[in-house]
Amino acid sequence: MSTHAYALIGLTAIVAALAATLTYAVLRIFGAARDAGGALTDRDREIAWMTAAMEDAVARLKRQEQAMAARAAASERLSEAMVASLTSGLLVVDREGRVPIVNPAARRLLALPEPLTDGTPYRRLLQQAGPLADVIAECLASGHAIVRRTLDFERDGQPMSLGVTVSPLHGEGGTPAGAICLFTDLTTVRELEDRIRLKESLAQVGELTAGLAHEFRNGLATIHGYSRLLDLDSLPEPYRPYVQAIRDETEALGEVVTNFLAFAKPAALTLAPVDLRAIVERAVEDAQADCRSRGGTIEVCGTFATIDGDEVLLRQAFANLLRNALESCEAARVAPQIVVESVLEADRRMARVTVTDNGAGIAPADRERIFRPFFTTKNEGTGLGLAIVQKIVVSHNGRVTAAAAPGGGARIEIRMPVLQRDGQ
Ligand SMILES: Nc1ncnc2c1ncn2[C@@H]1O[C@H](COP(=O)(O)OP(=O)(O)OP(=O)(O)O)[C@@H](O)[C@H]1O
Ligand SMILES: [Mg+2]
Repeated sequence: MSTHAYALIGLTAIVAALAATLTYAVLRIFGAARDAGGALTDRDREIAWMTAAMEDAVARLKRQEQAMAARAAASERLSEAMVASLTSGLLVVDREGRVPIVNPAARRLLALPEPLTDGTPYRRLLQQAGPLADVIAECLASGHAIVRRTLDFERDGQPMSLGVTVSPLHGEGGTPAGAICLFTDLTTVRELEDRIRLKESLAQVGELTAGLAHEFRNGLATIHGYSRLLDLDSLPEPYRPYVQAIRDETEALGEVVTNFLAFAKPAALTLAPVDLRAIVERAVEDAQADCRSRGGTIEVCGTFATIDGDEVLLRQAFANLLRNALESCEAARVAPQIVVESVLEADRRMARVTVTDNGAGIAPADRERIFRPFFTTKNEGTGLGLAIVQKIVVSHNGRVTAAAAPGGGARIEIRMPVLQRDGQ
């Protein structure tokens, strides 16, 4: 109970005592007056004067009591408004591990149910945010503050980063009374950091290797040129296959190097508002013949957004993803069932497009590595397809990740910022 509440109870008790005394005094005056047959003595007048003075004092005390009650209510309203208007999440945990206070920001950030009962234990409430419950437990156990710790975890399958400070709450006489936990959403800041790091490392890879690849391609072109000068017909029969092999191999390597240079050179985007649905449908159209020949289907569904993007590069990115999906279904010997789905995130600032297949799937250990240049598990692959997809998506300030599809295939997810029109 707050000091204000104690003061109010004390004041109410004083007022009640004074009112009782006053009533008693008035009754006594009337009694005396009745006994004296209606004639008031000096003593009675004195008592009447005292009664009036006491009435006045009681009225004053009552006014003070009302003013204090109003002040207490106003201060409670102010503290409630402060807690509610905090843009950071706030959770208060009491000594028994229950959560008496959760502000709206905390509810929104952690997608907590509404309304909450005071008796909910914090472990149950924070089921989806285990690491947050762990730091609260740490603070409750140690009695020490935990300042600005960054927690990374998944909520509803989506990565989330929180910046958290937990301080112990002290009751009267410094006894432990629980913990107060303040946290902010760092997910977008984290994503931005990751994107910048990735952009920098892609630029470094480009700088380091582009010169080398260029020289390499020139050398290959020379070897290929000389091999072409050799007239196969004038060569003795046993040597012809060797020359043919030199031509084929230099041609294939030349293609790899050209692809790599396309990947390594700095992305020069031609940006314009582009409709993602139109881009996806074009890429699907190109892959459709191949898919049908294998008895499969490609479905396009969901709500697509308009983004500020490079149409040619984005189409290339989706084409690479569809080709991978078809190749994976071929490896798994199944008829392709590919779905390209788009959703707008709740705040409508990000478009999320997923390409899901029913192919062989991606081993969990490979889900990060598949985006590295030259990582391939295919005999004929160069391992540049997804590296190019990642570069295109990152240059659009987006992010691409791989996961397992519910049916066991692969799901590649792209998130890119939606074009914000005025007033949105
Ligand atoms: N849809 C998918 N299903 C299963 N594995 C996939 C899928 N997409 C990519 N992969 C894995 O990721 C690896 C890298 O893909 P990436 O597109 O970069 O190269 P690649 O397909 O092997 O060669 P390239 O695209 O250059 O012809 C693939 O070899 C494969 O192992
Ligand atoms: Mg590929």
